[in-house]
Amino acid sequence: MNNNKTFLKIKNICCVGAGYVGGPTMALIASKCHDIKINVVDLNQERINQWNSDDLSNLPIYEPGLDLIIKKCRNKNLFFTTDVHKSIAEADMIFLAVNTPTKSKGIGAGQASDLKWIEASAKQVADHAVGTTIVVEKSTVPVRTAETIKQILNLSSNNINKNQKKLKKFSVLSNPEFLSEGSAIDDLENPDRILIGGEDLFAIESLANIYKRWVDDKKIIRTNLWSSELSKLTANAFLAQRLSSINSIAALCESTGADVNEVSKAIGLDSRIGEKFLQSGPGFGGSCFKKDILNLIYLCNFYGLNEVANYWKSVLDINSWTQDRISREIVFKLFGTVIGKKIAILGFSFKANTNDTRESPSIKICKNLIEEGACLSIYDPKVEKKQIESDLGLNCSNEVKISSWIFANNIFEAAKNADAIVILTEWHEFRYIEWEKIYKIMRKPSWLIDTRNIANYKKAESFGIKIWRIGIDK
Ligand code: UDX
Ligand code: UDX
Repeated sequence: MNNNKTFLKIKNICCVGAGYVGGPTMALIASKCHDIKINVVDLNQERINQWNSDDLSNLPIYEPGLDLIIKKCRNKNLFFTTDVHKSIAEADMIFLAVNTPTKSKGIGAGQASDLKWIEASAKQVADHAVGTTIVVEKSTVPVRTAETIKQILNLSSNNINKNQKKLKKFSVLSNPEFLSEGSAIDDLENPDRILIGGEDLFAIESLANIYKRWVDDKKIIRTNLWSSELSKLTANAFLAQRLSSINSIAALCESTGADVNEVSKAIGLDSRIGEKFLQSGPGFGGSCFKKDILNLIYLCNFYGLNEVANYWKSVLDINSWTQDRISREIVFKLFGTVIGKKIAILGFSFKANTNDTRESPSIKICKNLIEEGACLSIYDPKVEKKQIESDLGLNCSNEVKISSWIFANNIFEAAKNADAIVILTEWHEFRYIEWEKIYKIMRKPSWLIDTRNIANYKKAESFGIKIWRIGIDK
């Protein structure tokens, strides 16, 4: 442990991975630190082209406020490039923000994280870094991944760089990201805490010094590497666990006549519980929760903690059950069959204010309904047709027919001749649907199924639309 409390004034950052985490995180750092040059690199040329697009509506990800920051910083101190080697060589701090999906084959398949991209990036860093480099693990990774990164880096740290005749020296830090999609910029600007795990105090303070430009030092927590890595998995597991808990209670509310919103409010006012993450819905989605819990399960089983693994597995089981339960309820409401019926699906992203569909509950619910014979007309304000085709594994149809789906450009197009409207994502515009007009164009009897409890159901009901709200109506 280096106990020197000084720090390196970072002048050049490279971030490997221009995705949902790398892109917004680096954009925000660039906007706060004009004296730091940041290169965000990615293997995917198309993605880099999108980040460099003149038309800011073409950025590869949608996040409120991101376009303005990109406009302000791009090509001033923020650059998007595929020139990985040069960017690594220039940098004195390198963030690894590549994807870490669940392994699809081999040991730990279906649970363990696939670290091949982390490994590949670490090798590139090992080969091309120059002099002293601080490597920051940003991707969510299994506990002790930093050890792997260190080993890869150290293998080359004794190599003398041919041009510079200088020893390579690396420090590895863990600095997990807690941003939530849809509010990423605000989360980055006003974080609850910044977590930095590591052994080298000099490296820790060098990174802390960047955050201190806009975050109070009291919010910057320094821990050891493993605590930091495990904290990220644990935070996501706890958040997901709250959602499975409230979704399980939603089902009980429907059976007993209680109202899940009232229950959420009543328990959330207990300061020990708190009010956040108690909104029942169609189950959680997103790239992190399921993957991180699977990771935790793998880790627990690896260490022989089978009961602990089973406990966390139940959180995933309830989530999957919730999605199936909703699909089943929709079929029951529509008199036990949806064959030949048209169902308008409002919302395909896993939550509002993002175009991300990874693990979106909409995918499973839509697949279930298509399997039952429905024709879905799917509308989402930000998700493109080709993304839905890829997620459902089914091309969009040109006409309404059994077991198919069509793409709708707006709520009205989706609702035309539909037997039911199913709200799956809490997009703002779904709160203000003009029910009188919608009722007129729907088939009768018409249903509104609201899995997010956001619609003005009283208005809809007043025109004769039948209602099912999750956790409230039977
Ligand atoms: C992040 C985290 O890194 C992940 O661990 C976390 O759990 C979810 O969020 P995210 O930014 O959402 O991932 O992933 P993605 O949008 O897929 O972006 C990763 C990018 O890394 C991709 O654009 C991919 O092309 C790039 N990549 C991957 C590289 O540039 N090099 C590689 O070797 C591998
Ligand atoms: C999550 C974590 O919040 C973040 O800290 C971490 O870094 C990445 O994973 P994200 O997946 O982007 O962020 O979104 P989040 O807001 O956590 O929502 C996850 C899912 O839970 C969404 O499907 C959302 O709709 C659902 N959700 C959230 C509910 O159903 N009810 C709630 O009350 C809150």
